[in-house]
Amino acid sequence: MEFITYEQDGFVGIITINRPKALNALNSQVLDELDAALDAVDLNTTRALILTGAGDKSFVAGADIGEMSSLTKAEGEAFGKKGNDVFRKLETFPLPVIAAVNGFALGGGCEISMSCDIRICSENAVFGQPEVGLGITPGFGGTQRLARLVGAGMAKQMIYTARNIKADEAYRIGLVNAVYPAEELMTAAKKMAAGIAAQAPIAVRNCKKAINDGLQVDMDQAIVIEEKLFGDCFETEDQKAGMGNFLEKDKEKKLKVVPFQNK
Ligand code: CAA
Repeated sequence: MEFITYEQDGFVGIITINRPKALNALNSQVLDELDAALDAVDLNTTRALILTGAGDKSFVAGADIGEMSSLTKAEGEAFGKKGNDVFRKLETFPLPVIAAVNGFALGGGCEISMSCDIRICSENAVFGQPEVGLGITPGFGGTQRLARLVGAGMAKQMIYTARNIKADEAYRIGLVNAVYPAEELMTAAKKMAAGIAAQAPIAVRNCKKAINDGLQVDMDQAIVIEEKLFGDCFETEDQKAGMGNFLEKDKEKKLKVVPFQNK
């Protein structure tokens, strides 16, 4: 792959969008490679993913404006679908994904971070949906996910004004969970990912599915989704080991990573 690198660090997979000359802007090739990188993740040996951008200036500076500049209406719609399909794959990926936002997260960059489960960022991060300044709407899910994450009022303000916000404001409005000095961001992301990877993996996957699927339906349906995924856990060795360790008061054993098993 030319624009995506993948590194395995224990149970944690690190995907880096690596097109620093264009501030990691997303052209069709980057999107295709990201799609392929996700397909290639070994779900038996990986328990969490980190998504970041190459270099110290930009996470992702948006969809590629050069590529978009000459698109027709039909091609624009198809390009939006291409991005949406990959981002949806990320959002519904069986493993938790942490976005380590290490600089500009504009347009498609803000949008891809919002397709991840958790966002943390560096102090130099800048978020925004500047599309209306380019004569377009956000096209990779920004009109939908930003409103769901920070509320419709704040999302509309950001999108209508095209005003970028810095890390502290992104933290204040709940767009990111934490802000770190740039040199500490990846360490923090890896620590968080390792903390997730130390938990029962099937239970973590079921939590992601329960939260994501439950948010799409009303509460009566949502709690049924939870009940089924909760019930599924009782078929796993992790549940027997995890509860057994607690009941035996075996603190030493309790701290051990429960080995992964497929259901
Ligand atoms: N697409 C294509 N190339 C981009 C890019 C983008 N989104 N963002 C940056 N680049 C390129 C620049 O063209 C430049 O390339 P050259 O060196 O070949 O000229 C290189 O990256 C470095 O960029 P700058 O010289 O502009 O760097 P800067 O530090 O002066 O500014 C910046 C940084 C503020 C992020 C500025 O690059 C910028 O405003 N970029 C565009 C941000 C943007 O509008 N993103 C939204 C795109 S639309 C979208 O994403 C639609 C959607 O929802 C799907």
